[in-house]
Amino acid sequence: MNKNFLVQEIIRLKKEKNAVILAHYYQDDNIQEIADFIGDSLELAKKAQNTNADIIVFAGVHFMAETAKILNPNKKVILPDWNAGCSLADGCPPEDFKLFKEQHPDHIVVTYINCSAEIKAMSDLVCTSANAKKIIESIPAEQKIIFAPDENLGKYLQKETKRELVLWKGSCVVHEAFSLDKLIEIYNKNPTAKIAAHPESESHILKAAHFIGSTSGIINFIKTDPAAVFIVATEAGILHELTKAVPDKTLIPAPTTEDNSCACSECAFMKMNTLEKLYLCLKNERPEMLIKDELRIEALKPIKRMLELS
Ligand code: 13P
Ligand code: SF4
Repeated sequence: MNKNFLVQEIIRLKKEKNAVILAHYYQDDNIQEIADFIGDSLELAKKAQNTNADIIVFAGVHFMAETAKILNPNKKVILPDWNAGCSLADGCPPEDFKLFKEQHPDHIVVTYINCSAEIKAMSDLVCTSANAKKIIESIPAEQKIIFAPDENLGKYLQKETKRELVLWKGSCVVHEAFSLDKLIEIYNKNPTAKIAAHPESESHILKAAHFIGSTSGIINFIKTDPAAVFIVATEAGILHELTKAVPDKTLIPAPTTEDNSCACSECAFMKMNTLEKLYLCLKNERPEMLIKDELRIEALKPIKRMLELS
């Protein structure tokens, strides 16, 4: 379908249906351009909590739309592609996590927002990469903690907070693909560059980074730091917003171990959403996110605690 037609129709349908489009920084450029709000996971959860729209179109991945629905039971939450998953959420099946939790009965459970509603319902607190440190630090020092499902973020938090965390062994397929050797090679050619990394990256990448933070954190760092060149270790979709925000700075996507010409990291799940799918979901009002009330109420508790602490 023609791009101009899609853009015009999306704008028309949005108005007609009082819908809001929330999009993550990893979305396709065209989706970011048409969104009412772009943000990191925490900002998107807050936006979803505060919107007056009747329909929330969530252009991100499944767990993000699910979180929006948990926060808005009376609103219609739709998503462009139902199959836009996440390796972290998919790598933490509820039945296995239940057994894991039973092995550590005296631990409280902190989960990264990149997990299913079933896992959230088994959690005491949820966090995002933007507030994870603060959430862990809000827990009394003597309290034992399980952290799931991202092992890399968990290791980073252990280092930052000096707390022992029992870690679930999950990872993000995108952030674990960065190559340290190639990163060093690029850095040696650009010795004045600053390296900004997402905490889902492996510890050897984080060790090399000058800044570690959420997608919004990375954008703010690059906007405010005086350096002229940045190597960006997160999903390549963030470059769309960054290129607009800092047109005079040089942005180099961190290289991956893949030997391809693009050599930048794209999240195949995030990129399942297209402008055409966005149009169709707004037109047909499906796929729609629906969650049974019993599960929703349990999953809401740790999210609410997080929002109160953030
Ligand atoms: P942010 O919360 O930093 O936007 O991260 C979400 C995500 O899925 C990173 O891979
Ligand atoms: Fe999940 Fe990684 Fe994609 Fe983020 S980038 S949605 S953590 S697979």
